[in-house]
Amino acid sequence: MIVCSCQNITDRDIHAAIDWMRASDERTIITPGKVYRALGKSADCGGCMSLFVATMRQNDNLHVPTELRNLRGTAKEKAHERQRKGHRIP
Ligand code: FES
Repeated sequence: MIVCSCQNITDRDIHAAIDWMRASDERTIITPGKVYRALGKSADCGGCMSLFVATMRQNDNLHVPTELRNLRGTAKEKAHERQRKGHRIP
């Protein structure tokens, strides 16, 4: 099935790219941009992005490595802490 009509990318292309990236690096975080680059293409109109991401999510190799999970909350807390310190009067 064609997922991205601008670049003629199929669901099989997306799964193959994800499988290849995971086999190459088990710790990598796989994004739509990386899938496009792995396929030697780049997004054009972006109209396919919701279907593109939904297709990516069907792949079992998309998982985020355990040691990289929950960084968002930690980074957010650190940013909040930096912001708080920036507003203090010395
Ligand atoms: S349909 Fe995928 S970038 Fe346009």
